[in-house]
Amino acid sequence: MTMSISKMKALIAANWKMNKDIKEAVSFVKSFEKLIKNAKNIDIVICPPFTLFSELNQLLKNSKIKLGAQNMHFEDKGTFTGEISPLMLKDAGCEYVILGHSERRQYFNETDDLINKKVKSALRHNLKPILCIGETLQQRDNNKTREIIENQLINCLNDINENEIKNLVVAYEPVWAIGTGKNAAPEQAEEVHKFIRSLLLKIYNKKISDNARIIYGGSVKPENIKCLMKMKNINGTLVGGASLDPKSFAEICNAA
Ligand code: 13P
Repeated sequence: MTMSISKMKALIAANWKMNKDIKEAVSFVKSFEKLIKNAKNIDIVICPPFTLFSELNQLLKNSKIKLGAQNMHFEDKGTFTGEISPLMLKDAGCEYVILGHSERRQYFNETDDLINKKVKSALRHNLKPILCIGETLQQRDNNKTREIIENQLINCLNDINENEIKNLVVAYEPVWAIGTGKNAAPEQAEEVHKFIRSLLLKIYNKKISDNARIIYGGSVKPENIKCLMKMKNINGTLVGGASLDPKSFAEICNAA
């Protein structure tokens, strides 16, 4: 069934990046859960470092908060020192996995081709991929935003058919807005989100395009969440810095 885009359940995901030890994570969850008691009609996901999965999975057993990973390898197992597999993520209680984050692309040389393998693998294992795409400031200044977005999306979804794609989440994260305190203006983000939806229509069909959750990431804070969420094609957010503090992340969830 095709859902009206505006009625779509929002997804608010925390990307903790390389932050927090077990004690800090437990204390976060305990405070955070109290603050989001009344949050309804939204999916909340925490993507912690791998070392926190076991503890958080126990703690979140009966909670509405879901677990996600920040990365994974595309193979099920094998001789890949330092990597983690989709099966391990499932085993650890993960439902979502962030793939192709710009920090992975920038510091770990992840290419669209590699990310495509990971997206395929996540879908095959029934993990919901949060596929990150976004342009750099230089690319935006050179009017290349659409070209970059289109190439990243098409390449990362290469050879994935419409029967496989249903759990996909796309995160538009302009690189220039990540960790800079300078978020994209809601209208600026909406324009790209609308473009991404039109690409999904072009690659797949109306149902997939209408049902895909397209979330925004880049300096999301309690102060700007409402304006961002007012946009028709913004179906949630991926939050870095502001998700590390239970109060500010709860404010974001409650406002969404
Ligand atoms: P900030 O919210 O800190 O800008 O980070 C965004 C991000 O990279 C989420 O994946």
